[in-house]
Amino acid sequence: MTPKKPFLTDVKNLRAKARKSLDKGAVTDNYQGNVEQVIEILQSVLATELVCVLRYTMHYVTATGISSDGVKAEFAEHAAEEQEHAMLVAERINQLGGKPDFNPDSLTARSASQYSEGKNLVDMIRENLVAERIAVEHYRELIRFFADHDPTTRVMIEKILEKEEEHANDMHDLLIAHEGMPMLKS
Ligand SMILES: [Fe+2]
Ligand SMILES: [Fe+2]
Repeated sequence: MTPKKPFLTDVKNLRAKARKSLDKGAVTDNYQGNVEQVIEILQSVLATELVCVLRYTMHYVTATGISSDGVKAEFAEHAAEEQEHAMLVAERINQLGGKPDFNPDSLTARSASQYSEGKNLVDMIRENLVAERIAVEHYRELIRFFADHDPTTRVMIEKILEKEEEHANDMHDLLIAHEGMPMLKS
């Protein structure tokens, strides 16, 4: 018979610890991430999302051409979703005791993705696909980094990653539709 595992922390101890350091809010004793480092990483994720909001919004407003209506709608939807991501990340920074950095002066320097305007509709789609692929790669790396040291941040990034993969796929499909070149092996 497998011996019983010792219970992690007894309730009395747990209760006593929870009463200490109330100023730390959600960051309790067994938080295993480095709070400063996690906040710094999340500031860069926030910047990445904000740059995506701006790029998609710009593309939505300026997209023209016979077949731009469907693409415009897609750009608008993505802009709204990137905004949701930015909010989630900013809230998490706040929960961890940090101050979310919305300063536009250094936004592009902090962001992983770029703000590229694109010369025409196909160019815009391509730039968005590139940006999504950067986000996907970056977030997947972060998920592995957070592992079980900070499950809440990891789960949040996992949710965001799921959306970014969807976005990348949408842009990929639009690129095929507008460029007429299949990028996947048939
Ligand atoms: Fe996003
Ligand atoms: Fe995205």
